[in-house]
Amino acid sequence: MKRPVVAIDGPAGAGKSTVARLVAERLGYVLLDTGALYRTVALAAERAGVSWDDAGAVSAHAEKLAQSRAVQLERASDGTLRSLLSGEDVSGSIRTLAMGQGASKVSAVPGVRSALLALQRNAGEGGGVVLEGRDIGTVVFPDAEVKVFLTASVEVRARRRFEELRGRGEKPEMERVRQEVIERDQRDSTRAVAPLKQAADAMVLDSSALEVSEVVGQIVERVRAAERLLAGQA
Ligand code: DC
Repeated sequence: MKRPVVAIDGPAGAGKSTVARLVAERLGYVLLDTGALYRTVALAAERAGVSWDDAGAVSAHAEKLAQSRAVQLERASDGTLRSLLSGEDVSGSIRTLAMGQGASKVSAVPGVRSALLALQRNAGEGGGVVLEGRDIGTVVFPDAEVKVFLTASVEVRARRRFEELRGRGEKPEMERVRQEVIERDQRDSTRAVAPLKQAADAMVLDSSALEVSEVVGQIVERVRAAERLLAGQA
């Protein structure tokens, strides 16, 4: 039976990762964190001495990485998703404030986006998958059966990022994290190619006003309805 593609988009710190993981677990769907792909490209560029601001060089580097399948996501035996760069587990190294900024910069480069597009489409095309990112419901899977735009206030999102970074042993300053959230929103929403924006047919959920369990419950309900619809069409 064909199963839905679930697209979860929204700004940094809206809770997409937590929500997408729980939704995928509840449904037994595959999870794809597309931000991790951009973060891995940013890390690879840095290691190769390629500037995040050099669009030509960063595109060429991303194309090379995609073609040689050097950037991959893999499910570990404990169920978590690991980011691999040429076989090395870089899941920890990509979760820093710096790589968040790097990912935001390289993801604004059209050549980087097109290099990662096929990879995302191949991973999701069979359905039964939850993809989280910025442009899943608008560009990667515009025909996704379930589209969610998850958002939250800047204050709530900055606080979450702050706690997350502290949990990883970093010592961020709250005001700096807040500024970076605003800066990243601005860059992600105004770039020329595939900017962060709500798909017209997306279900909008505000996680500052709802508990995680409520957000997850509403999405799961929507997916179940989409599953029934697909089963009826079969
Ligand atoms: O979700 P995240 O913080 O890991 O994403 C890091 C950056 O990657 C984000 O600032 C914008 C970019 N990104 C994107 O442009 N498109 C996606 N589908 C996912 C992430």
